[in-house]
Amino acid sequence: MCGIVGYVGDKESAPILVSGLKKLEYRGYDSAGVAVVNRNQLNVVRATGKLRNLENRVVADQPQGNIGIGHTRWATHGRPSDENAHPHTYKNVAVVHNGIIENHLSLKTQLRAKGHVFSSETDTEVFAHLISDELEAGKELPDAVRGAIEQVKGTYALAVVSATDPHRIVCTKNASPMVLGLSEGQNFIASDVPAVLEHTRDIVYMEEGDLAIVTAAKVDIFNRQGHPVNRATRRIDWTPMMAEKGGYKHFMHKEIWEQPRAVADTLRGRMLLTEGDVHFEGWNLTPEKVRSLSKITILACGTSWHSGVAGKHMIETLARLPVEVELASEFRYRDPIVESSHLAIAISQSGETADTLAAFKEAKARGATAMAICNVIGSAMTREAEFSVLTNAGPEIGVASTKAFTTQLVALYLLAVKLGRMRGTLSVAAAQEHLTHLTEIPKMIEEVLKCEPAVKRVAREFMNSQDFLFLGRGPMHPVALEGALKLKEISYIHAEGYAGGEMKHGPIALIDEKMPVVVIAPKKPHVAYEKIIGNIEEVRARGGKVIAVIDEDDDQVAGLADHVIRVPAACALLAPVIATIPLQLLAYHVAEMRGNDVDQPRNLAKSVTVE
Ligand code: M6R
Repeated sequence: MCGIVGYVGDKESAPILVSGLKKLEYRGYDSAGVAVVNRNQLNVVRATGKLRNLENRVVADQPQGNIGIGHTRWATHGRPSDENAHPHTYKNVAVVHNGIIENHLSLKTQLRAKGHVFSSETDTEVFAHLISDELEAGKELPDAVRGAIEQVKGTYALAVVSATDPHRIVCTKNASPMVLGLSEGQNFIASDVPAVLEHTRDIVYMEEGDLAIVTAAKVDIFNRQGHPVNRATRRIDWTPMMAEKGGYKHFMHKEIWEQPRAVADTLRGRMLLTEGDVHFEGWNLTPEKVRSLSKITILACGTSWHSGVAGKHMIETLARLPVEVELASEFRYRDPIVESSHLAIAISQSGETADTLAAFKEAKARGATAMAICNVIGSAMTREAEFSVLTNAGPEIGVASTKAFTTQLVALYLLAVKLGRMRGTLSVAAAQEHLTHLTEIPKMIEEVLKCEPAVKRVAREFMNSQDFLFLGRGPMHPVALEGALKLKEISYIHAEGYAGGEMKHGPIALIDEKMPVVVIAPKKPHVAYEKIIGNIEEVRARGGKVIAVIDEDDDQVAGLADHVIRVPAACALLAPVIATIPLQLLAYHVAEMRGNDVDQPRNLAKSVTVE
């Protein structure tokens, strides 16, 4: 997501900060900035868009000073703009921040009541105000930072400089990464190792709750309780490219493994467990409007369309509202029936897909209310939408969508609960139960990722297959579609995803002893489970090889399949989030074993901005 870099030493800091930020460009960003301290003076330079915009400003009028912090922003609160770019300042304090302050609205209200005026739409600016107040109350900078984070609920990697304390950077972290780069007579901080690798390979990884005081001469680290701690210094031998991928061979692999964090970020601040409700910032549909809706039309392409199919199951089950899932490329060229009682939801990772955008505009022009579920704030889709739910997955670089898909599923589930509450189809208790299921999902993803060795064995056995079939029923149908899409786009093996019940209507003719059939067969919902067992029998009877994705405790299907991949059992509507992950890993390892360019498969683009 966002990137942080900081420097204190005997050199001019601005060029070092800009060059460190360049090393984080691969993470994606929409604006950038630096704050440099010079003899009790704070100089801030910020620019929207590419880093060269910031660089041009820095070169034209370079802020002087040997200590500073820099940031690349990927917007979550507030559109991309110069004002919303970090560093954020208040009086003598400048801060850069990665993460989300969940209680920023209430903190802003309290601060405004004390006379504070905010100059951005961001949650981050709250930190600058809180720290400034703490300094004015007479605290030293490290204690002022501690005082501020005690008031904040959320995640952060935070770096702070102050014009009144011009020789040190104070940084701290909670659930967002922060590293310290050590060198002779100069020290660095960064959200990611690549930002500092050209200066030092001696890296300290800060731990949760740590606070570090960084000067040119030394680094002091304190734990959450304020006690001094020693954290090991590691020598990093990665090449710059390896460092960008966090040590993974491919971005896709890194993004698959990032899913526990990505999904947690989608959920953060949105689940109101006590009230049995969901909070979406900026939600603007009144209860009357929601009750008057007669249909939802989901518009999307590719993987995002698959999440729409899963979303149909969720919304229809929890909110009892009809949902149609339209391929955007088809919708835009029909004469679709759209009414003012329809809600059009565009689902898109990039927010720039040409077909989805055109279909969305069409639905809006014909009178539908327009909502986007999107990963990129400020993208064309979010600008077109009357309201957006951001998936907060962080930049997805691999062309094959992975974390974008699972975060879309989780966002759709939140939406289904919200609509269910507003339409009166879910009681408080029922909503609480659904939200509790959601809270368990990040942990379950961590668990399911442990199946990677089993998936790799399957990949090795079938890497030279010509064709694959994926079968799923009910909520697992879109998982079958997604598994097949993932495999074909990066391994170039022909793969088909089918609803199990359709097998007899054609694909069964393909099955012989050379055909691997991936069957997604969780025990819930029971009706789908019983029927998919019938499909497995049909495949076996024709000599096909069954690879079954099953619940941990399932012995029945295990006894029928040639290979099993066991996953933690989730509730029926959320099981797609869990069951998709082994299929992502299968596609990844098959493609990798075949020596393909996993992150940039042939003929594909990350963002399809043309028809
Ligand atoms: O950015 P979007 O979600 O709108 O992109 C839609 C599709 O182009 C995208 O999901 C595509 O199918 C991916 N390559 C799938 O991995």
